[in-house]
Amino acid sequence: MMETPVTVVILAAGLGTRMMSRKAKVLHRAGGQTLVEHVVDTALELTAPERVFVVVGHQAEAVRQAVAGRGVGFIEQKEQKGTGHALMVSRDALAHLDGFLVVFYGDGPLMQSATLRRLVEAEMAGGGAGVLLAAEMDDPTGYGRVIRDAEGRVKEVVEQKSGTPDQLAIREANMGIYCYRADLFWKHVDEIVPDNPAKEYYLTDMVGILTRAGHRMDALRMDDPAEALGINDRAELAVVDRILRERKVRELMLSGVTIEKPETVTIDKHVRIGMDTVIEPFTQILGASTIGENCRVGACSIVRDSEIEDDVEIFPFTIVNTSHVERGVNCGPFARLRMENYVEAGAHIGNFVELKKTRLGAGAKANHLAYLGDSQIGAKTNIGAGTITCNYDGFHKHQTQIGEGAFIGSNSTLVAPLEIGAGAYVAAGSVITDPVPADALALGRARQSLKEGWAAKRRALGKKKS
Ligand code: UD1
Ligand code: MG
Repeated sequence: MMETPVTVVILAAGLGTRMMSRKAKVLHRAGGQTLVEHVVDTALELTAPERVFVVVGHQAEAVRQAVAGRGVGFIEQKEQKGTGHALMVSRDALAHLDGFLVVFYGDGPLMQSATLRRLVEAEMAGGGAGVLLAAEMDDPTGYGRVIRDAEGRVKEVVEQKSGTPDQLAIREANMGIYCYRADLFWKHVDEIVPDNPAKEYYLTDMVGILTRAGHRMDALRMDDPAEALGINDRAELAVVDRILRERKVRELMLSGVTIEKPETVTIDKHVRIGMDTVIEPFTQILGASTIGENCRVGACSIVRDSEIEDDVEIFPFTIVNTSHVERGVNCGPFARLRMENYVEAGAHIGNFVELKKTRLGAGAKANHLAYLGDSQIGAKTNIGAGTITCNYDGFHKHQTQIGEGAFIGSNSTLVAPLEIGAGAYVAAGSVITDPVPADALALGRARQSLKEGWAAKRRALGKKKS
């Protein structure tokens, strides 16, 4: 947080026509969250939530919803008459806030708070009316150009549409990100007029307005203009997504996580992963997931909104969704923890096992081909291959409770609601519909009958006929 009060205004009222979407541009996602969430998070690294404001217009309610809970304020710009207009409609709500005013855009999620902080520091050190962020670009087409006077001081910004050929030959581009002295900004903001080919109120006009009023404006040069990249279409969205993913995996690798073929993995912004964990290629770790230390997440696995404790091994092609996995668990390959499961320490979940709303006790095993839904399974219980909990009767879901140390034989069909006591055995191939007390054996299948010599007789009969 900065010591001098800083107010941040994020412009996010535009539709973003080139996205070719029914959804406002800032609601599109990159790096695992919406663009507006990224920029609000960046602003919150700089200043307090009561000093962050988002200018909303198109789909205002949906944009508010996307960042609700972060405690920031909103200003409604009902008609989008330009970037300057967005600030003009903000004046009544913001002009009483002293200190500095930082303005940036909702469609630029790569902007980092360190750069904004440098901008504020440059303004504090320079003591002028404001500082704009600029970059020398090989091809500045589309950007506003920074016009300097004979002494090299910033004089004004000229938009692409209004520039003379001489002005458009200038390669110093305006990134559209500013830090102003709040009092001077609000004093002069109403002087912006829409006298340009687009008939818009340009925020860029503030630069000339302030210098003509006798104030100094400065420009802070960025080394890498990529950080100010704004998204206009879905191809640019993909580029920005890739950059955000690269940043995230790099940050994780530098904090002690091994990521194999990092260019193939997708890890969302808020994911946390502990030291010495290995992430194999083509995995996705999404949402609010945390993974402990010394784990392995196998190739092509997907972990979403889940907590995985230390020393967990997830084998390839496993899906873990909204579940909690305690330490030392083995899981997969090809397992699916569908939703809201809790797997206790040291349990084993093998291939083609699906869990839904199930608590699997410590050291319990379901090693192959099972469906366990709406069930509580005691510690050290063994679930045989092919076990199915029949939790749905066509109308309602029902619970299955299995005590500690039970043994469920292969291919058992457990018809819920059902209770199986601790230490009980269920014979392989049983259909169990009634409660099984602790330590009992339940058999629910046809008794085997045997016909000695039947097969030999059958073959002899066949030979005679031919
Ligand atoms: C702006 C700058 C340009 C700079 C460029 C950098 C102006 C006039 N020009 O141009 O000098 O080089 O950024 O990317 O500022 N918005 C509103 N309300 C409006 C209009 C826009 O909230 O009435 C929002 C948009 O949703 C968008 C942002 O402001 O997120 C930028 O607007 P845009 O029209 O894209 O400005 P640029 O043409 O990029
Ligand atoms: Mg733009």
